[in-house]
Amino acid sequence: MNQSQLPQRMLLGAGPSTVHPRVLQAMTMPVVGHLDPAFFQVMDDVCDMLREVFHTENKMTVPISSTGTGAMETACANVIEPGDEVLICRNGYFGIRLADIAERCGATVHLMDTPWGKAVDPQMLRDELKRHPGLKAVGVVHAETSTGVLSFIKELMDVIREAGALSIVDAVTSLGGHEVRMDDWGIDICYSATQKCLGAPPGLAPISLSPAAMDVVSKRPTKVQSFYFNLKDLEAYWNATRAYHHTSPINMTYALREALRMMMEEGLENRIQRHARVAAGLRAGVEALGLSLLAEEGHRLNPLTTLSIPDGVEDAKVRGALLNDYDIEIGGGLGEFAGKAWRIGLMGESAREKNVFAVLSALESILAKEGYEVAFGASLSAAQRAIATFDE
Ligand SMILES: Cc1ncc(COP(=O)(O)O)c(C=O)c1O
Repeated sequence: MNQSQLPQRMLLGAGPSTVHPRVLQAMTMPVVGHLDPAFFQVMDDVCDMLREVFHTENKMTVPISSTGTGAMETACANVIEPGDEVLICRNGYFGIRLADIAERCGATVHLMDTPWGKAVDPQMLRDELKRHPGLKAVGVVHAETSTGVLSFIKELMDVIREAGALSIVDAVTSLGGHEVRMDDWGIDICYSATQKCLGAPPGLAPISLSPAAMDVVSKRPTKVQSFYFNLKDLEAYWNATRAYHHTSPINMTYALREALRMMMEEGLENRIQRHARVAAGLRAGVEALGLSLLAEEGHRLNPLTTLSIPDGVEDAKVRGALLNDYDIEIGGGLGEFAGKAWRIGLMGESAREKNVFAVLSALESILAKEGYEVAFGASLSAAQRAIATFDE
């Protein structure tokens, strides 16, 4: 298949999300060297805008050259030394991944498991932390993309701070789609990825560390095991002497700058409201179709809605028809939810009202063909009503 044959999909999965032509256009600017002073301005612009998005004054706020998983590795590899005790809150697939990475960094990992579909509970965490004094860090996923659950980070940070541990927060699916206030909430280490609510292609992973977290990184007696994700050297390139560490993905950095500029033009609050508005429409539509939502009420993500696949309906057939007949990508279930759930993302540029109606009407047609009883138009009018109510 040559490049011109690649299909134009409507990206309503768990990411990547749609990339605006302005962002794609920015990627076609000339490649300059990673040590060219002209590029330093781009780097500074990106870091400044990332600070705004994370709501932080942390000097160490940079994009890591990797996807979100690389930022998870960066957080763990720099903070954790072999033998350190950490606790990871697991309420889905990405909590499991975080615990795995922490273990690979040599930590003794304590686990606090919460059933899939439920949020991490602050009181349960408080009780658990009492059983583990002397923890170096506690990791938690803000927006669990496998279940569609949002945990309330502000409350969890209060508990982690009381215990005197550093906090590691995964905001891969929340940053740009839900509020993330690093400084107000007291988050020490927070990371994300470009391909979800930030609206750029996959390839960079913003991370921010508080001065306290950077102090821990600077003073650790052992070498960070990873050369590539070693923050001290990355700091020298991004913040200080511009010393060569690795060749930056120049054009991805242009893309991120443009995507962040678009966020600033829209306004962070407006953008978060846009995600909430379309999510309200989608949830109402899905429920009117008779499908049940998997995430606990009150903790449902706006950028990603999880629903259970009705009995007798074949997961692969429906997603295949959406992709092949409608050019719509949605996500399947992960881990415990594999084969049982669909995940519909309305993230960044994909968080548009027209996409809500497109995916609902396609689902109505496909499900009806699969023998599932559908009241045609019901999901669309429910979505319309929910959006109108939101606007009131
Ligand atoms: C919550 C969460 N954390 C981490 C990741 C890993 O990111 P990536 O796939 O960009 O490496 C993802 C990816 O979907 C995610 O949703």
